[in-house]
Amino acid sequence: MTTQSLQVVVLAAGQGKRMNSRLPKVPHPLGGRPMLLHILESARRLAPSRLAVVIGHGGETVAKRLEAPDVAWAVQDRQLGTGHAVMQALPKLDPAGVILILYGDVPRIATGTMRSLVDAAAENQLALLTQDLDDPRGMGRIVRDASGRVTKIVEERDATEAERAIREINTGIMAVPFAKLSTWLAGLGNDNAQGEYYLTDIVAAAVAERFPVAVRQPQSSTECLGVNSKRELARVERLLQLDRAHALLDAGVTLADPARIDVRGELTCGKDVHIDVNCVFEGKVALGEGVTIGANCILRDVTVGDGTEIRPFSLLEEASVGANAKIGPYARLRPGTELAEDVHIGNFVEVKASAIAARSKVNHLSYIGDSTVGQDVNVGAGTITCNYDGAHKHRTVIGDRVHIGSDVQLVAPVTIGDGADIGAGTTVFKDAPAGELTLNPKSQVTKPGWKRPEKKK
Ligand code: UD1
Ligand code: CA
Repeated sequence: MTTQSLQVVVLAAGQGKRMNSRLPKVPHPLGGRPMLLHILESARRLAPSRLAVVIGHGGETVAKRLEAPDVAWAVQDRQLGTGHAVMQALPKLDPAGVILILYGDVPRIATGTMRSLVDAAAENQLALLTQDLDDPRGMGRIVRDASGRVTKIVEERDATEAERAIREINTGIMAVPFAKLSTWLAGLGNDNAQGEYYLTDIVAAAVAERFPVAVRQPQSSTECLGVNSKRELARVERLLQLDRAHALLDAGVTLADPARIDVRGELTCGKDVHIDVNCVFEGKVALGEGVTIGANCILRDVTVGDGTEIRPFSLLEEASVGANAKIGPYARLRPGTELAEDVHIGNFVEVKASAIAARSKVNHLSYIGDSTVGQDVNVGAGTITCNYDGAHKHRTVIGDRVHIGSDVQLVAPVTIGDGADIGAGTTVFKDAPAGELTLNPKSQVTKPGWKRPEKKK
C-alpha cells in the first residue's frame, strides 16, 4: 500500500464531563501543549493524505486556537456515538484507501503501533488495537468464538456477566478500508443501552460477511491510556514526562531524578549537561555543553552557552546567556536579557531587556532594566536602574570597566562613560564622564551625647 492512500480520523467531540472544567477536553494542556496536538503529531509521521478531526458543538474555537492548518475539521453537533462521529468525517475524506481512527483523548499511541494497524488494514482486513487488562471495567470487550476468532465487540453496559469477565478490551483505535467502513457505518443502528451509534458494531458486520478481522497490540502497556478526568490527565502527564526524561538520559544528559523534571516544550542539550531536581523547561530551551542547572530552576525560551552554571531557584524567560556564566541562586532574567560570556548574575538580581557584555558582574540585590552594560563592569549591591518615569521607559548605558558602588540609583536616560567609578549611595541623574569618580556630595555628622528615646515606665 502506498502512504498516499492512508487517511486519519481523530475523534474529539466528547464533552469531557468528568474533567469538571469549562474548557473542552482536547485543548487541555499535556506536556505544555494542547492534548490533541500529541496524537496529531504522531499521526503526521505516517504522512496521511488527509487528517480529519471530529469536534463537538462549539469546538470551532478549539479548532481555531490549535493552529493545525493541515487538519480538516468536522463538526458533530450532538454526541450520538463513536460510529456517528466517524460518519461526520467521511465527507472530508477521499473515498479510497485505509482509514485510521484515533481518539484525541488517547494521546500517547506510538506511531509504530499505528503503522501495525494500517499495514494490517492495507491487506484488506479490519484491524483492531486490543489490550489485556487486569481491570477491564468501563471498556468494550473483545468477544471471540471457541476457535479464538473475534466475533464482536460488546460495550460494558450491553455485556452479559460472562462477557464482562473478558479481559481483552477494545482500545477504540482501529484501521479499516474506506469502502467497507462507509458501508458498515451506513448500516449501524442505535438499539443498545446508550442509544448510540457504536463504531464497535462494525466488527460484527465484518464478521457477518466473513471479512477478516485482525488484532494488534500496542508496543507498550501504557500507550492506550485515555484521559477522561484530571486524575487520568495527571497520570498521562507523568508518563509523558518520564518518556521525555528517558530521552534526555539516553542522549547523555545527567538528571538527578528523572521523575522530577518537567519539559513542557523543546529542550536540547549539549554533552555533559547536568540537571538537578524540580526544574521546569518551557518553550524552546537550548543548553550548551557542560551546562549545570541547579535545583528548582525554571527556564522558558532560553539559550545557555557552554559551561554555564545556573544555580538553584533561578527563573529565566526569553533570555540568552553566554558561555561560562554564573547565574543565581535566586536570579531573575526577564525577556530581552542578553548576557555575554563569563557574566555573573547573583542572588536577588533582576535583569530585563538589557545586554551585559563579557566578564561583567551584578552579584547582589540589583535591578538592571533597559540597559546596555559594557564589559568588565562591576555593579555593586543594591544598584537600581530607574528606568521608568511613570509614563515612559528610558535606557541606561554603562561603558566598559565601570565600577558602580553599592546602593546606587541610575536615573535613566543616563550614560556612564568607560572606566568611570560611581561612589556608593550615589543617585546618578546626569551623565557621568569616563575615567572619573562621580558621587553625590554628602556629609556625615555625629551628635555627641545623643540619647535614644526610651519608653516611660
Ligand atoms: C469507546 C468504545 C469502547 C472502548 C473505549 C476505549 C465505542 C462504542 N466504544 O467507549 O469499546 O473500550 O472507547 O476508550 O466506540 N466521541 C465522539 N463523539 C461521540 C462519542 C465519542 O467524538 O459521539 C469521541 C470522544 O471524544 C472520545 C472517543 O470518541 O475521544 C471515545 O469516546 P468515549 O465516550 O470516551 O468512549 P466510549 O464510548 O465509552
Ligand atoms: Ca474515553
